[in-house]
Amino acid sequence: MSGLLTIAELSRDRMEHLLAAARAYAGGRGRRHPEALVALAFFEESLRTRVGFDAAAARLGARTTTIDALKHTAAMGQPETLEDTLRSVEAWCDVVCLRHPDREAMARAIAATSAPVVNCGNGHDEHPTQALLDLLTIEAELGRIDGIRLALVGDLHASRCARSLALALAQFSDVTIRCIHPPGLEPADDVLAALAAGRGHRVEHRTVMDVDGCDAVYVAGLPADTRAGTLTVQQQTALHVTVDVARRLRDGGIVMCPLPRVDEIDRAVDEMPAAAYFRNGPLALAMRMAVLDAVLSR
Ligand code: CP
Repeated sequence: MSGLLTIAELSRDRMEHLLAAARAYAGGRGRRHPEALVALAFFEESLRTRVGFDAAAARLGARTTTIDALKHTAAMGQPETLEDTLRSVEAWCDVVCLRHPDREAMARAIAATSAPVVNCGNGHDEHPTQALLDLLTIEAELGRIDGIRLALVGDLHASRCARSLALALAQFSDVTIRCIHPPGLEPADDVLAALAAGRGHRVEHRTVMDVDGCDAVYVAGLPADTRAGTLTVQQQTALHVTVDVARRLRDGGIVMCPLPRVDEIDRAVDEMPAAAYFRNGPLALAMRMAVLDAVLSR
């Protein structure tokens, strides 16, 4: 794999291959890469993705180096461009894990460097490795991906996690996506078109928290200010996951969240068997190992 910029560049076969590789790493098997150097270039805050790739590299026997985002802010007087930064380090690194607030950052990166780039989140666009670990979580928790009924909740227009997951699920079969969002915050047209073109997919829309009959609810987050304007406290709390909401899922149903959360999921839900958002830590590590392996083995 020459890098990973969008989930759409992965065929279903390719996603299945990565899921299998991640399962193998979770079971303690898989290639190691002791000679490799992984650059962590995070120009936007991150805990899980940054530390997750650092830990995944370490588990592969690889080393990491960090590109200091502070050097790229106006506080330095003359911020260095993303392009110059990547050109400067490309000869030293085997892969660049890049997060950037600009949705054009990935296109700029591959135009500037020959180093493989893994998209770790670019603005409101994509977060493909999050989608892959979400697929792995769904498969591990529910035993299948085809045929699931998933409620996506939050600002579905701006959430890159929701966008990448929906685009990934578009390649599976008979998936029902229930979009639960305040008016005006529905998924972008290209996401809805991809789902409509899927095999046997159904897309439902709700503006209230109705997860009845769903196998999983995915909490994508709801900032106070959105492109639709300022949300009231009532609008936000109406879309929180409470114990009562989680109980309305099908038997064995799960609550998923890419994190961080503010108060979108009540703390009491953490103690329920449905809460999958911390339990999937080992799967997240295994998937990031699988992604790095696929790039480093090219
Ligand atoms: N899920 C996720 O992207 O979390 P971080 O912002 O902490 O990396």
